[in-house]
Amino acid sequence: MNEMFNMIIKEVKKILKLDVSNDKKLQLVCNLLRNSVPHYDWVGFYLVDKNKPEELVLATFDGEPTEHVRISFGGGICGQAAEQEKTFIVQDVTRENNYLACSARVKSEIVVPIFRNKKLVGEIDIDSHKLAPFTENDKIFLEKIAEIIAEVIE
Ligand code: SME
Repeated sequence: MNEMFNMIIKEVKKILKLDVSNDKKLQLVCNLLRNSVPHYDWVGFYLVDKNKPEELVLATFDGEPTEHVRISFGGGICGQAAEQEKTFIVQDVTRENNYLACSARVKSEIVVPIFRNKKLVGEIDIDSHKLAPFTENDKIFLEKIAEIIAEVIE
């Protein structure tokens, strides 16, 4: 993984130690990711709804507001990643049939599941205005972030 990603992981660990609410920690991680990585234009956390387990609810985000505040498992890239419990990388959203558009500027997306005690509890969702910007490094990096932040998802 490159130096920038290693630095961000250190910063995320610092955020988790702050004396603030878990929601605030997630918000700070969103802000950090969006501000630090040039190809991350929208960063959000969707969490599995405890009352409706087959549904994701948008918890916090940094970027343009989206109408997709609730997403059913199987719907869109987020819903597919939740259903299959695996990372989804879509390098060109115009080639993905099962896609929920948030903004016309978005060209690509990565969705990484978050597990706690081996159970899916949420996802990191990142949109980019660039075409095909995501590499294996983004996947490794974001899966690491998902592992670290799982502890603040209740
Ligand atoms: N594009 C996503 C929906 C969420 S927005 O990107 C914020 C999807 O297809 O699931």
